[in-house]
Amino acid sequence: MTGGVALLEDGRILYAIHEERLTREKMATGFPSESIKKALADTGTRPEEIGAIAVATVNEFFREKAIAYDGWLLRDQAPLKEAFLNAASAVNRTFGATPFLQQSYYELKSLMGRARRKSIETHLRGDFGFTAPIKFINHHFAHACSAYFTSGLGDATVITMDGAGDNSSSHVYRVQDGRFRRLHNISSFDSVGNYYAYITHICGFKAQKHEGKITGLAAYGEPIYAGLLKQFIAYENAGTVNKGGVFYWAAVKALEKALPASYKREDLASSMQRVLEEVGCAYIDHWIRTTECSDLALAGGVFANVKLNQRIHELKSVRSLFVHPGMGDEGLALGAAFALAGAGSENTVRPEKLSDVYFGPEYGERETQAAIAHEGVEAGFVPDIERRVAELIAQGHVVARFAGKMEYGPRALGNRSILYQATDPKVNDWLNERLKRSEFMPFAPVTLEEYAGQCYENLEGGRYPAKFMTMTFDCTRWMKERCPAVVHVDGTARPQLIDRETNPSYYRIVDEYRKITGLPSVINTSFNMHEEPIVCSPGDAIRAFLDGGLDYLAVGNFLLENPAGVPPRTS
Ligand SMILES: [Fe+2]
Repeated sequence: MTGGVALLEDGRILYAIHEERLTREKMATGFPSESIKKALADTGTRPEEIGAIAVATVNEFFREKAIAYDGWLLRDQAPLKEAFLNAASAVNRTFGATPFLQQSYYELKSLMGRARRKSIETHLRGDFGFTAPIKFINHHFAHACSAYFTSGLGDATVITMDGAGDNSSSHVYRVQDGRFRRLHNISSFDSVGNYYAYITHICGFKAQKHEGKITGLAAYGEPIYAGLLKQFIAYENAGTVNKGGVFYWAAVKALEKALPASYKREDLASSMQRVLEEVGCAYIDHWIRTTECSDLALAGGVFANVKLNQRIHELKSVRSLFVHPGMGDEGLALGAAFALAGAGSENTVRPEKLSDVYFGPEYGERETQAAIAHEGVEAGFVPDIERRVAELIAQGHVVARFAGKMEYGPRALGNRSILYQATDPKVNDWLNERLKRSEFMPFAPVTLEEYAGQCYENLEGGRYPAKFMTMTFDCTRWMKERCPAVVHVDGTARPQLIDRETNPSYYRIVDEYRKITGLPSVINTSFNMHEEPIVCSPGDAIRAFLDGGLDYLAVGNFLLENPAGVPPRTS
């Protein structure tokens, strides 16, 4: 589970950061020591000022038997527990998953999870001196709270879906004024998210990391294996059912055996995407109709799937849709904190809409100048940096922007972003090559809110999630003709809608670009190098810039030009 920290004060988000941004290891897992240090330092908080600590769990499966074993297993038996787990997964790999093995596997994982509690408590008390009570929060309940408390909805249907967490892959809640009523649970054995991960692996990518590549690839194929995949995972009885009866490596093996030798991975991706959309939409439609509450808030890694989110938004039963911007496990810290602060009968925390997700570290002019001097690069101070950046983009340059507080969640939303004009479709080849990325979905656009209707169809009920780039929309003909670089082969784009109040400086860059070119959209892609996390500090930004691929870097008001030279590019 990806690590991180969120700090709430009186139900307000004070700070949030993901461990990967500080350790510089993508999707860093484990105890988030660096995030805790940074959150305390940046907010000027002493450990004894923290009133309560919430920790989301991932491997816990509460059963009487498991709890009975705790006394023995919680003592220092780590090598033995490791051996148990390895043996269980080896048997699963060899023979497939019998119900007994499934059960044993989850129970053993659960015991590991419970042992982890002790270690977390020791770190929090011993290493950091926290004295506040520590509460452990169920994985899917934490996802659900992240969605509900940032939805702005008093009454909502809240649905979580992921690969697996605490032996579940989905929860359904009806929430009214902060009171959560759980209506449904799907076990992780019956997880459609896990099947998406198996297909990601079979297509040659990293499972639980590169699922987005499958979503992009899907548009290039035909869903000719959807029927076959539904023999493995299907919608039945108001939930998803693992018809294949296998999981993890046994499932990968069974899928590979069932597929013809000559399959094209585009078709396989398309088939998996089709199954996810059909299964996911049938599931959500059923529960919306059951709760009779058509305002929907979603979280969990499955909802990183921007195409699925579009399909859900298009359901007649859905009035409004919100996807929490940190929908994957990076959002659990915030969700757990909300669970503790807001859920329950005595709650005082009201669900509010997020105006933005700039919850991370910010660096001042002095730190920027120090980083520039340390890296030995030249930089000029530009008073009207926004106008200059807009001019450079209009001239056909690739410009990285580093400013203000870092974004929470997986997407760069302007403060750690690479910007380029959206007029040249070839950019998806040459810029990805320069950034050493392989993507099947085109770059995403940032679009001025007031021009959104000119660019995208069916925005009603979807403008709020579109602030955070969490779903695709069909593009208008006007958009397809003028900004083809951000339009996928299926005619969709995944926009970030930006208004003036949310981020005035970023807004102004796009608005100045519009004044020059007449176009209200530019490409916004995350500022990071190949397989690295998004840059965090000015030092990270300058090092990533020097790694190549970019023409200019704007750090605050400082402008750096690529030392190798920047030929103007026209398209
Ligand atoms: Fe999760």
